[in-house]
Amino acid sequence: MRNRFVIGNWKLNGSLVSNGLLLNTLKTGFGPAIAGKTCVVCVPTPYLSQAQTELIGSGIEWGSQDVSCMEIGAYTGEVSAGMVAEFGAKFAIIGHSERRAVFGDTDAMVASKFGSALKSGLVPVLCVGESLAERESGKTQEVIWRQLHATIETHGIKSLSLGVLAYEPVWAIGTGKTATPGQADEVHAFLRGKIRELNLEVGENLSILYGGSVKKSNAVELFAKPDIDGGLIGGASLVAEEFLGIWNAL
Ligand code: PGA
Repeated sequence: MRNRFVIGNWKLNGSLVSNGLLLNTLKTGFGPAIAGKTCVVCVPTPYLSQAQTELIGSGIEWGSQDVSCMEIGAYTGEVSAGMVAEFGAKFAIIGHSERRAVFGDTDAMVASKFGSALKSGLVPVLCVGESLAERESGKTQEVIWRQLHATIETHGIKSLSLGVLAYEPVWAIGTGKTATPGQADEVHAFLRGKIRELNLEVGENLSILYGGSVKKSNAVELFAKPDIDGGLIGGASLVAEEFLGIWNAL
């Protein structure tokens, strides 16, 4: 049985006050821990300390939305994986499409960040996904495999077993347009198949999450698919009732 995850990605949202309310409601509604299932919130970096204070002992984990590929030195504005880990974070989202599209993260940078996260003991949540134009021109598989392959080439296939993979079609992120469970599962099965060809065990055991407009109302159907091991949740992770509903669907 593969590990299953619901991971919230708060993006550039929140304040000390609103986070406090959200985290407290999540803690109250969370219920007992369930073996093999993990709930995580990835908060803006300045709020890692708040997440640590609020969530310690709650059963809910916390993480960052990115890490630098640099470890230390004259890199103004960067935040290292080691710094993130100091706040008790266990996870870091790496290669989100917004980082790739808006901030120029290349496949090589993403691979490097994946390595930085691992080195500091964080679980990298590696995101891949195609744009609408790429999907419509039949390039989905080529694009997502290129994105993933950069990391495999740099760190070896076995490194994937220390992380989590997230398939997030760019056209479904924040648009309200979810991939159908069938569409998502087809891509997940493709990814798993390719990874299995390189290492059977890694392919079998790797958790592959779906992200892109997951809500309480569509989570059950998505999570029922054989190759979907949970979700990476943006907008709905900011609403406690939605996020808990998605968690309960896992
Ligand atoms: P969304 O975002 O759930 O708001 O579509 C998902 C993500 O970007 O991780």
